[in-house]
Amino acid sequence: MSFKDKVVYQIYPKSFQDSDGDGWGDIRGIITRLDYLKELGIDCIWFNPMTVSPQRDNGYDVADYRAIDPRYGTMEDFAELSREAHKRGIDIMFDMVFNHTSIEHEWFKRAIAGETKYKNYYIWRKGKAPGVPPTNWQSKFAGPAWEYAEAFDEWYLHLFDPTQADLNWENPDVRQECADIVNFWRSKGVHGFRFDVVNLISKYTVDEDDPNNFDGRQFYTDGPHVHEYLKELAARSFGQDPDSITVGEMSSTTMDNCISYSGEETGELSMVFTFHHLKVDYKNQMKWELQPFDFKALKKLLSDWQTGMQEGKAWNALFLNNHDQPRALSRFGNDREYRKESAKMLATVIHMMRGTPYVYMGEEIGMTNAGFTDIRQYVDVESTNIFKVLKEQGKSEEEIYHILQERSRDNARTPMQWDDSLNAGFTSGTPWLQVCDRYKEINVKNDLEDPDSIFRYYQKLIQLRKENKVIQEGTFRQLLEDHTSVFAFQRTLGTEDVVVLANFYGNEAEITLDLTGYEMALSNIGRTDSDITVLKPYEAAVLIRR
Ligand code: GLC
Repeated sequence: MSFKDKVVYQIYPKSFQDSDGDGWGDIRGIITRLDYLKELGIDCIWFNPMTVSPQRDNGYDVADYRAIDPRYGTMEDFAELSREAHKRGIDIMFDMVFNHTSIEHEWFKRAIAGETKYKNYYIWRKGKAPGVPPTNWQSKFAGPAWEYAEAFDEWYLHLFDPTQADLNWENPDVRQECADIVNFWRSKGVHGFRFDVVNLISKYTVDEDDPNNFDGRQFYTDGPHVHEYLKELAARSFGQDPDSITVGEMSSTTMDNCISYSGEETGELSMVFTFHHLKVDYKNQMKWELQPFDFKALKKLLSDWQTGMQEGKAWNALFLNNHDQPRALSRFGNDREYRKESAKMLATVIHMMRGTPYVYMGEEIGMTNAGFTDIRQYVDVESTNIFKVLKEQGKSEEEIYHILQERSRDNARTPMQWDDSLNAGFTSGTPWLQVCDRYKEINVKNDLEDPDSIFRYYQKLIQLRKENKVIQEGTFRQLLEDHTSVFAFQRTLGTEDVVVLANFYGNEAEITLDLTGYEMALSNIGRTDSDITVLKPYEAAVLIRR
């Protein structure tokens, strides 16, 4: 599939639409909302994992790669979802979690039971001394990255939760199993695949201490065989399908590696998710330390990745939101006085850059952070762990809540807000995670009735991409590089060119640009003239010259 004119919508299935009142989203619920997505204009839906899982990490702890978790429905329900989506011209992208499995997976159970074949599916080492793990690495969810298994007097590696054991990709059987799983879903009509933290699958070593006592990432990120393994996986599975569309989630990666992961001719993936631009509000690169976002750094990162990937003939996935990030509107915009304007402004930036835009459920109606005020409202394993860690470090509860309200992954995982009825129309039961209390004001029903809504604006952005090759394929060049509140860029293809202006702040911003010959293609404040000298608060504009 060519993916340059496509837009992907991400559904967090647990929170999208419940159809049977158990408080969990499900496949039958999703089917009832396909017309809504068709109306938005998207081409493909990425689903977070719906396969069998104990849900310690909400499905990223897979216990069976080939079965739908009964809480989401059945394989027949999935077949119907696939049929109904394709009928509407919408493709399906599945999430493949191949860096690790749940310890409830049959492979791990057989490993622990002593079957050598399966023991070699995972990564084991002797401890340094009784009770002391093989290395000092910290897991990404806090605590040591090794768990002791009495059965062998050895430890297994888990970069994430102790229930998520890392797979041993050096074992050719593991690699073949993963290819077989992709082919299983291909046989069910799935053309799209997102590969979870896939740049962590090949480790340089698991035997060295991290000199800084951190997570050891320099020993397993973009490892020695990762490109070879991805090429092999492609050749054995999705690479055989000319319609496939694939995206790899790349943790703490580099540009050079991404050029290989998603290069036009490298035979790996269609595109990559990278995260450098989403750390600009981390103080000292630490997720749990707050600082206002560094706008200069944000501009530079967005622009460097645009130009670097374009020079390398590689492809970016464009996004500010997903199920692991707080809501971008609350983070980079103003979700109170300028909720509409800033939601539209951020969307303009994402949708007009070079790459494939992703819309995370609810951003198209301007959903905000959850605003939880009690630890019992949080479900996410990372959030509940960090709550304990920060407490042990002596932070006050007040301070910790403040941090979680800004940073917790649950901010983005609250149920989709469909209308102003009980639980925002998500469920008739008790939702697994509380609905954000702003649902009476912020919901789909309101947005569909309002011609000037955020939803209507997203429709226009998606439409603009479809209608203009320059937006799909044009080269990117940053403008007004030194401006302290405006991000501006130009896209060019042949004789066509597009200028995009985005004011990231709640004050007016003066700009000096020669805009003669441009026509206004889209404005988030209803502006029609194109000779702009002052941008209003959070104003965004798309201007086209042909
Ligand atoms: C990815 C997923 C995240 C998950 C982690 C471990 O980052 O997006 O939700 O917790 O991998 O699988």
